[in-house]
Amino acid sequence: MTGSICGTGSYIPHYAMDNNAVADLVETSDEWIRERTGVIRRHIITEETTTSMAAEAGRRALEDAGLPAEEIDLILVATISSDALLPCTACEVQKTLGAVNATCFDLGGAACTGFVLAYNTAEAYLASGVYKTALIIGSESLSALTNWKDRGTCILFGDGAGAAVLKASEQRRYLPVTHSEGAKGEALVCKSRYDSNGLTKKCNECIPEEKYFIRMDGQAVFKFAVRKVPEVIEEVLEKNSLSKEDIDLYILHQANKRIVEAVAKRLGEPMEKFPVNVQEYGNTSSASIPILLDELNGAGKLKPGQKLLLAGFGAGLTWGASVLGTAET
Ligand code: COA
Repeated sequence: MTGSICGTGSYIPHYAMDNNAVADLVETSDEWIRERTGVIRRHIITEETTTSMAAEAGRRALEDAGLPAEEIDLILVATISSDALLPCTACEVQKTLGAVNATCFDLGGAACTGFVLAYNTAEAYLASGVYKTALIIGSESLSALTNWKDRGTCILFGDGAGAAVLKASEQRRYLPVTHSEGAKGEALVCKSRYDSNGLTKKCNECIPEEKYFIRMDGQAVFKFAVRKVPEVIEEVLEKNSLSKEDIDLYILHQANKRIVEAVAKRLGEPMEKFPVNVQEYGNTSSASIPILLDELNGAGKLKPGQKLLLAGFGAGLTWGASVLGTAET
């Protein structure tokens, strides 16, 4: 038993912010951003929220799967930018969609590996027979965590949501490989906005504002990604007795076009097997993989019987890869 994807959906905020608009805020240029990252524009929330985007992406995925909301047993939302601590985003999605029979929880803090971990979690529930259907979502309003005065980070991130519906199926099960290295976590940090208890700890005033936004050692993260992602891909292939030739598409977290190109080169695989959409959305953290999946699905590029390899990497540091087969019918 495993969990097979039988529907996808996404929601992209209406407002598209191009590189020139970023260059109005910090000293940078369209040319520099394109060359170093591949990003041309990102979409930023106006009236949307992390919850509303998650719910709409989820609704579209259910529609694509042809599944009524009441048939969903599990809703998982991967996010580092939830609108509230309580209730969790997954419960809010349940309420909006009327998925009254679902168990709901968020995977917070897993950042850009979040969707891969959500897939692994849901797949394990489905494979063990606990649940039969799951809706997994990555939704992020990274614009709220971005320091729009820091050119080292604000050029990269964007907002959006993507979702997939999984159904228990008799297809072959592939086991994932995941890693964490907390000792290197300083490379990508964002302090909690709730670090005062109002009783024994002083309020936030003494802490510089920048700490509440994403801070990153860009070069360290870049080096980590181009070394660890090819390694974990090789590991997951070996674990499942697969070869690179068996994989039809590598769906990588969309952090930077140069990272994807470097991974393809290290693996000796052609770029045609590595779809890229970072140019349109920037890095949307946990949402990037399901947004890409939905784009491929919408374009008719996901065919029955394919093997997809998902790979995520990011804050923690965390990284991992999972193989899944597309539905065979
Ligand atoms: N615009 C113009 N110049 C910039 C700039 C910007 N936005 N940001 C940095 N620079 C400058 C630097 O000051 C430096 O100038 P100097 O040589 O005069 O000192 C020069 O460009 C090179 O800086 P560097 O930090 O080496 O650039 P880079 O090639 O490493 O690119 C990133 C920076 C952030 C794009 C890149 O490191 C990256 O993508 N890292 C991975 C980030 C990531 O994916 N994070 C999320 C993971 S989930």
